Amino acid sequence: MSRGHVGRQSLRLLIGVCIILSSAFLIDAANAEGQSNFPSPREQVITLGAGINAFSYDPVWKSQKNARIKDSHLRKMKDAGFRTIRVNLMSFAYMDSSGRLDPEWLSTLDDLIARLLSFGFNIILDEHDFIECREDVELCERRLIDFWSQISIRYRNSPPTVLFELLNEPSRDITPSVWNGMSRRLLEIIRRSNPKRNVLIGPAHFNSIDYLDRLEIPVDDKNIIVTVHYYLPLEFSHQRFPMGNWFPTLPLRGWGGGKEQQKVMADFYKAQNWAERNNRVLYLGEFGTYEQAPLADRAKYAGFLTRTAESLGWAWAYWQFDKSFSLYDIEGDKWVEPILSALIPGK
Ligand code: GLC
Repeated sequence: MSRGHVGRQSLRLLIGVCIILSSAFLIDAANAEGQSNFPSPREQVITLGAGINAFSYDPVWKSQKNARIKDSHLRKMKDAGFRTIRVNLMSFAYMDSSGRLDPEWLSTLDDLIARLLSFGFNIILDEHDFIECREDVELCERRLIDFWSQISIRYRNSPPTVLFELLNEPSRDITPSVWNGMSRRLLEIIRRSNPKRNVLIGPAHFNSIDYLDRLEIPVDDKNIIVTVHYYLPLEFSHQRFPMGNWFPTLPLRGWGGGKEQQKVMADFYKAQNWAERNNRVLYLGEFGTYEQAPLADRAKYAGFLTRTAESLGWAWAYWQFDKSFSLYDIEGDKWVEPILSALIPGK
């Protein structure tokens, strides 16, 4: 092989590398340009308003024709005043061993996002495999890297009303320090293609307010909304909840005494105080009560939490539309009225 031939080959290689690098740069630049008008967390939380968790257990993920939540339900949510749907995604079951998401599952997600956008909803894509995650942290991180690598690129041109949430309720073996490292690495992946899209990150220990102090998020990333969940006291919200056999022998109990209300206020004010000290905005991504609690008290609890959250400028999402802790009775085709009108007065 002549020296000239080797020289030409290296030149071609160099040109090839330059083209790849510059096109990657152009994509990133175009993308950065494209997201430069995305809202700040503060602006966006105002528009998120009343929200609802949905689709976690919907058979739609196995087959679109079996969808439980239909357009008629989405219309009812919209008419009731809900502005945001937190879509609970259990994606790990739809990945192959190399981490590739099932194309059919992805196309169901494409369709769902398009439908929700056509109704005018904000969408939070919440990766909800928290149970698998707390059992095998290493596998969890690999799966989340696979998930966010694919999802962040697939939806990078979506409007700013599509938000990403790294992982629901990191807990147990995902200790605060494990979570700080893992969430930083996941965020880096998202930022390569979505420099300004708002991303929700919550503290460890089930997104507990008490763990906000141990949450470390990159200070120079201004497009983060910090999310917390609230189910206290669990003896009320989870009484007789079969999954995990919660408090099966305690007598049924209500909620709403002065001390219980003060506890909610103290917890929410503590969270707000953290947010102000850290210059962050909060989102109450889950709260709700299992069906065994007395209905009037479930409604009182829902109303008190949402009014307190709103008084602090937070948006919120009720857990959940259907299945358990439900706000809608799909079989009876009607809202659980006392809870709906507590959440959104006048409805
Ligand atoms: C949790 C979870 C959800 C669960 C619910 C009731 O915090 O995010 O998946 O079903 O609340 O415990």
